Amino acid sequence: TWTAGNIVDEQVARIREQVGNKRAICALSGGVDSAVAAALVQRAIGDQLTCVYVDHGLMRQDESAEIEKAFGASTGGAKLMVVDAAELFLGKLAGVTDPETKRKIIGEQFIRTFERAQAEIIASSEGEDVAFLVQGTLYPDVVESGGGEGTANIKSHHNVGGLPDDIEFELVEPLRALFKDEVRAVGTALGLPDEIVHRQPFPGPGLGIRIIGEVTKDRLDLLRKADAIARAELTAAGLNRQVWQMPVVLLADVRSVGVQGDHRTYGHPVVLRPVSSEDAMTADWSRLPYELLSKISNRITNEVDGVNRVVLDVTSKPPGTIEWE
Ligand code: XMP
Repeated sequence: TWTAGNIVDEQVARIREQVGNKRAICALSGGVDSAVAAALVQRAIGDQLTCVYVDHGLMRQDESAEIEKAFGASTGGAKLMVVDAAELFLGKLAGVTDPETKRKIIGEQFIRTFERAQAEIIASSEGEDVAFLVQGTLYPDVVESGGGEGTANIKSHHNVGGLPDDIEFELVEPLRALFKDEVRAVGTALGLPDEIVHRQPFPGPGLGIRIIGEVTKDRLDLLRKADAIARAELTAAGLNRQVWQMPVVLLADVRSVGVQGDHRTYGHPVVLRPVSSEDAMTADWSRLPYELLSKISNRITNEVDGVNRVVLDVTSKPPGTIEWE
């Protein structure tokens, strides 16, 4: 019979057999899949696993802290290496407005940063064999990419745009037989917090592709505040799990006139993009309750300096994509 507990036991035994007394590395992206894969491997081999979390500075509010909390020393398991690369990424993104260029820069810097972390881990491993790379590949990814068992050459399904193809690691993919909802059940059985297990999909390039215009630290801070309010209210309304995703997008190059108290404002709009979907290939805009929309709008315009307008995206996919860039 299928229970999350059985899957955990089965996979823990398999991972121990596969890895033996060698060492493994896992890149945490902040998403559910890599988190559950890492937690499983951590359960199986403890500190033979080193998790790497590249903080590109484009994450949402509290996300990095949640990951550090779930995988930090307090869990008594794997080692966690956090690389704070925010300045590097922001520097590379300065002046860039084209969406594909942003993606390319972020993907490239992510790989470079991860490679540096990897080299450091190998250098500090004192001759112990670092031979395995953990990936949160799910069953639908396996089917999509043709099904072969993974070894040396890594088919890039990594959500920041692909790992370099010269890595000679053997893959550990404990989620290969699972669908998303099963992965969440396994995550819960492993004791991961709801904030991680029920996190909505979030693109690898992060908030970098939710700021229309140049990405700057101030704009990121502003968007983080608006996004945190929208997410908190969606969760408070009990709708977090029904809505597939709700990007909040900052139209940083647009300004409009408003009035607040007794003075005129000239601020930026943010767009709410709540969608319902099965697989992100197609989507419809979510009919959120007016009460909720009103609350989000009031709070954002009152609490986020520089935002004086909240608009709702009512476009399905196609023709619109879920993200704005
Ligand atoms: P679109 O905007 O194409 O998005 O309708 C479909 C799904 O993919 C996510 N997305 C990305 N995920 N890297 C990612 O890892 C990306 O560059 C990227 N762009 C879009 C998006 O959030 C949605 O879930």
